[in-house]
Amino acid sequence: MCPYMIYGLTNSKGGVGKTTIAVHLAAWLAKKKRSVTFIDADPQNSASQWIRELGLPIRLELISEPEDIVQRVAKLAENADDVVIDGPAGLSSTTRAVMLRSDRVFLPCGPSILDLRAASKAVQLLREAQKARRGKPTGVLIPNKLQKRGRLSREMLGAAKKLGIDVLGGLSQRQSFADAAGQAKVVWQMGASALLASHEMQQLMKEMTRG
Ligand SMILES: Nc1ncnc2c1ncn2[C@@H]1O[C@H](COP(=O)(O)OP(=O)(O)O)[C@@H](O)[C@H]1O
Ligand SMILES: [Mg+2]
Repeated sequence: MCPYMIYGLTNSKGGVGKTTIAVHLAAWLAKKKRSVTFIDADPQNSASQWIRELGLPIRLELISEPEDIVQRVAKLAENADDVVIDGPAGLSSTTRAVMLRSDRVFLPCGPSILDLRAASKAVQLLREAQKARRGKPTGVLIPNKLQKRGRLSREMLGAAKKLGIDVLGGLSQRQSFADAAGQAKVVWQMGASALLASHEMQQLMKEMTRG
């Protein structure tokens, strides 16, 4: 696993899985005994309650003003192994700030071509950040709510290729992912009924933290 990583979850759209994946990533890193700071950068703060209720050793910060993100993230990263930032929906200055401070940006994206078109706007913003920072952050698309994991349509894969962005295997549409926040758990704490979801999510976590 990489030392000292700042992971940013962003996209132009809401409801694509940013919070679900960000919370699971923080919980997974904490399970690996990493010291983790979670930044809830979405003014709706939907991740904060979930993180608190998990009761895991994850430091929580609510920072949604873009200037504060730019100023404070580097300092917070000095005092943690990993920082996970849950971004808001949209192409706001907050999203831009998350991209300017992350090492790795993940763009969760729904399974349709319309979702991908929306994501392409976030990819443009990512390219601007990369230009400003001479390469950083890396950017990867996470297809979410798939009918079957890893089964992105050929059109979608072609369109992602055109965008020049890597694509992970992603997550399929599963009730356990939707139920997790309400149960104040992550899927690997939910027992036998969430076994497949747990397996998928942990596979995704490995891909997100690799190398
Ligand atoms: N793979 C999935 N299968 C089923 N429901 C999902 C999945 N991923 C996310 N959800 C649900 O979709 C909704 C939006 O997810 P969320 O993580 O809040 O997205 P965002 O942070 O991008 O707005 C939530 O109700 C969440 O539980
Ligand atoms: Mg969210």
